[in-house]
Amino acid sequence: MIRAKISALGCYTPPRILSNSDLERMVETSDAWIRERTGILERHIVDKGVATSDLAVEAAKCALAQRGLSPTDIEVIIVATVTPDTFFPSTACLLQDKLGARGAWGFDLSAACSGFIYALTAGSQLIASGAHKRVLVVGADVMSSIINYEDRATCVIFGDGAGAVVLEPVSDSDDSMGLLDFMNEIDGSGAPYLQMPAGGSRLPSSVETVRSKLHYVHQDGPQVFKFAVRKMYDVCEAILKRNSLTAADLDVFIPHQANRRIIEATAERLGMNPDKVMINIDHYGNTTAATIPLATADAIRQGKLRKGSLALYAAAGAGYTVGAALVRWAY
Ligand code: UT7
Repeated sequence: MIRAKISALGCYTPPRILSNSDLERMVETSDAWIRERTGILERHIVDKGVATSDLAVEAAKCALAQRGLSPTDIEVIIVATVTPDTFFPSTACLLQDKLGARGAWGFDLSAACSGFIYALTAGSQLIASGAHKRVLVVGADVMSSIINYEDRATCVIFGDGAGAVVLEPVSDSDDSMGLLDFMNEIDGSGAPYLQMPAGGSRLPSSVETVRSKLHYVHQDGPQVFKFAVRKMYDVCEAILKRNSLTAADLDVFIPHQANRRIIEATAERLGMNPDKVMINIDHYGNTTAATIPLATADAIRQGKLRKGSLALYAAAGAGYTVGAALVRWAY
């Protein structure tokens, strides 16, 4: 098996900021409630007409530039998203064209908040098999396109953003680096607690589905919260154990950013030193598939992640989906 490594990372968030005080003017909420219950201060939101592939292409260009690659070097494009530009064609196709990645193939992957970890898993296996040498993995969501800005329980949480990484095989000189292990799990019994009910084959779009606001995110927050706290810990504990590691061996914990309280509860149960826990939900909110690349970029910027660092990724979300990955950072 050939191990894959992340050889470059690029991120993009739209410039427009939606602050807690903006939200105070839109729904019955308060800056204090949002900070205390979620840890969020602001999120980035696209302008009308900007779609997921528009964010993804900026993130991808940045990753390619960092590695000095041209778009035609990319062999596969995997886009993790729950807000594709269209049901079909896939956002991967649209991104391939915008980027000019001639000769690539690819697909979208729907795993909500765990999407980036699932896409990393899939991409790394295409490298492990020897089938491909350069895979672009993107986590991108325009959550504002499926949020009801009259529903205070959801509109304060989500934001828009994109992150892209290049996966390549490790070389002889860095064969201890790269994506060391993955652990993923789905539990579809959780489907009702976080979903967009209409627009698919079960409830095709109609005047009635629009009138009933069924094309928005519907979430039972406390149910998802309890699941996330339990499963984020379980999956982290299990992947560490499988690799004969403890939390003390990690240099940084980079969790999905859904709620500051979920992250802190998970980190505390794991016995993580708070200084090693990456939290940037304050400035981005929950960007679904983009949270982990955005948090990785901030971890690098803050000096928490550097060549040789051992990082643990973890996520839980709609589906339910759960995922974790152990990464020895390679650059
Ligand atoms: O990434 C995808 C996975 N998603 C998650 O992991 C999200 C998990 N869930 C959560 O993060 C939290 O459940 C929320 C942030 C969504 C909600 O926080 P909570 O502490 O679980 O609040 P709650 O839903 O239990 O509501 C508590 C109270 C309610 O009022 P009453 O019934 O106690 O009078 C809500 O109506 O807070 C009220 N409330 C708000 N108040 C002010 C709910 N949203 C707001 C709001 N502003 N934005």
